[in-house]
Amino acid sequence: MDKYTIFGNPIHHTLSPKIHGYFAEQTNHLISYEKVLAPRGDFESYVRDFVTIGGKGFNVTVPFKIEAYDLSDKLTSHARTAGAVNTIKIEDGQLLGHNTDGIGLVSDLCNNLEQTLKNKDILILGAGGATKGILLPLLEQKPARILLANRTKSKALDLANNFSNFGKVCGFGLEQIKDKPVDIIINATSASLDGVMPDISSGVANGAFCYDLMYGKKTPFMNWASNNGATRVVDGLGMLVEQDASSFEFWRGEKPETIDLLSALKEIAD
Ligand code: ATR
Repeated sequence: MDKYTIFGNPIHHTLSPKIHGYFAEQTNHLISYEKVLAPRGDFESYVRDFVTIGGKGFNVTVPFKIEAYDLSDKLTSHARTAGAVNTIKIEDGQLLGHNTDGIGLVSDLCNNLEQTLKNKDILILGAGGATKGILLPLLEQKPARILLANRTKSKALDLANNFSNFGKVCGFGLEQIKDKPVDIIINATSASLDGVMPDISSGVANGAFCYDLMYGKKTPFMNWASNNGATRVVDGLGMLVEQDASSFEFWRGEKPETIDLLSALKEIAD
């Protein structure tokens, strides 16, 4: 049986073993997938041990995505532009680093939620690791513009500058967001973790499709969007399922179906 795992800290809350178990059953692939709490500062030895016992691949979550990037022997273009790795395939003892975060988001938006991104104005709140991970896959969909707004304006400007070769990306401070609607707003800040919504112009949400990368409960961003005229407000559960499906495909060469699983998980969450 081929061995897979997910390393993180904390890790108890992860749905990934359940999701990969479902994918394995559906595709008739004989695999095991376990969650492992790796101590901060000892991630590398956990990875080396997993390679030694013949592990085939693993996922990486907070706080090890940058370390996984540094440990990778080779990187896919999505991992390189994200500057972070959430999926590793082990081939002949070598670590091939990939990033499926943004691929998962785009798949959820375009396939499950039937949003067209082409020629749309997309506002992203935040300019940290999460934003870096989703920018390239979003730009590949050829939106009209991506507006990057961040509390620390210089970080938004730097990130916009780094991605300017891939499409039209403009950096701003949060306070510069205009009271004018955009098509899509994506919350990629970690503000929801602190139970807060950044204080931004409310008119920007009027008629917008609003997506929070976080999942699990209604976030302050989702409440703000619903209260300010958003046409649809969605959390990041679909992104999680789709990024796991993309990891599964990267390892096993077969893309699992996600629709039934996503409906079942949504029912549990509601
Ligand atoms: P992640 O990997 O989740 O993106 P990160 O790299 O630490 O984590 O980035 C967190 C992002 O959330 C940053 O854009 C941060 O803004 P700053 O760059 O100004 O720190 C943003 N953020 C966190 N808390 C916030 C808050 N209360 N209001 C607005 N933005 C916030």
